[in-house]
Amino acid sequence: MPPRGETDPSRGKTALRAILAVGGGLALVVLGSLLVNFGLAPSWLTGATRDQSEAEAAAQQSGGDTQHAKLFTPPAESTIPDDDFGKSVRRGLAIFNDTGTNAHDFVGNDLSCSNCHLDAGRQAFSAPMWAAYPVYPKYRGKNKMVNTMEDRIKGCFTYSMNAQGSPSGGPPPYGSDVYRDLQAYFFWMSKGLPTGEKPEGAGFGKIDKPAKEPSRQRGEAVFAQNCAVCHGADGQGQKDINGKVVFPPLWGPNSFNWGAGMHKINAAAAFIKHNMPLSEPNKLTVQEAWDVAAFVDSHPRPNDPRQIGDVTVKDAVDKWHHNHQGFYGKEVDGKLMGPGYPSSDQASAPAQNESSGG
Ligand code: HEC
Ligand code: HEC
Repeated sequence: MPPRGETDPSRGKTALRAILAVGGGLALVVLGSLLVNFGLAPSWLTGATRDQSEAEAAAQQSGGDTQHAKLFTPPAESTIPDDDFGKSVRRGLAIFNDTGTNAHDFVGNDLSCSNCHLDAGRQAFSAPMWAAYPVYPKYRGKNKMVNTMEDRIKGCFTYSMNAQGSPSGGPPPYGSDVYRDLQAYFFWMSKGLPTGEKPEGAGFGKIDKPAKEPSRQRGEAVFAQNCAVCHGADGQGQKDINGKVVFPPLWGPNSFNWGAGMHKINAAAAFIKHNMPLSEPNKLTVQEAWDVAAFVDSHPRPNDPRQIGDVTVKDAVDKWHHNHQGFYGKEVDGKLMGPGYPSSDQASAPAQNESSGG
């Protein structure tokens, strides 16, 4: 196994400094030291190498057996070549980890790719990029066509990064260097994997069906106990004094929109089971993961970008959401889920009306 710790020497310290610098951040400092003391802090926060936590995570995920012993290990960042190809790979990596800074014109929320594809897209069961690259081009039911890797990345810009609220008003145009550099990074990362075969660790992994129908009421309690400490009681995440996101928002105007995969309870449940709370994979039971996913996904967020002009939420339900496990088009506490926010309010308070198409 390559020395994973050396893949990211600066990020942990920067993040720690960022957390310590959070405005009036006594509570966060205390929180930070608690997390560190109890070994709960993400490795990028402590600057520790990932070897130990990863070994533990893998052991937990495999229930102690060797089921995942064959998980692919992507090459260490230090092996990115010092040539023009390597420069493109490094730009792709920078876009992936800090999308709002390095692909600024196309990001309409507070997220980065690495917020959902953890450890810079390296972590198994958080839809790692080394597992994705070899299986494209691939047919997708979502847009009923063969998707190139460029199409697929465009999809995550459109929905997960809410590109409709970005300075350019949409995802990078086809042929953009943003796609070129991201693909160079994914290609480099998947070196040695056969094409056309889905590797172990791809996607978010499987989660069993819950014994009871997912409940956002039960999920609220799971959230308060396991998630609010980082993502905030209001789910809006936390930033440092420089406005850099330390913990990403899970709903509201600065999170992913109603067209994103994560708005589906089944997708969120699988992601959460295998990845959250951060650095404690599989802490939650199957039922808790489904319940908290239902809670997270039952809050307002930016509109589905396909639901524009005359297209109502109901039309969009019939066209794109009828087979989804989600709250889009349903009422939660008397409020319709789906209309989004007026675009002028995109970065401010959630709108109370139900008529806006964003
Ligand atoms: C809000 C969470 C979120 C963010 C942010 C996000 N994605 Fe995704 N991404 C997803 C989900 C959900 C999937 C579908 C995973 C699955 O198929 O199990 C996905 C899938 C992908 C895939 C295909 C994976 C596969 O195995 O087929 C690629 C490639 C991808 N994302 C790239 C990106 C890039 C590049 C960015 C940043 C520009 C990004 N994503 C941002 C949630 C996100
Ligand atoms: C120790 C802090 C911490 C805890 C506790 C935690 N998270 Fe996270 N979570 C993060 C961080 C940090 C990220 C982004 C990952 C990264 O950038 O490495 C994240 C990402 C996410 C994402 C994807 C990004 C987004 O904004 O939608 C979801 C969904 C999520 N967490 C849900 C949860 C849920 C549900 C819980 C409770 C079961 C939880 N988290 C507990 C720190 C935490």
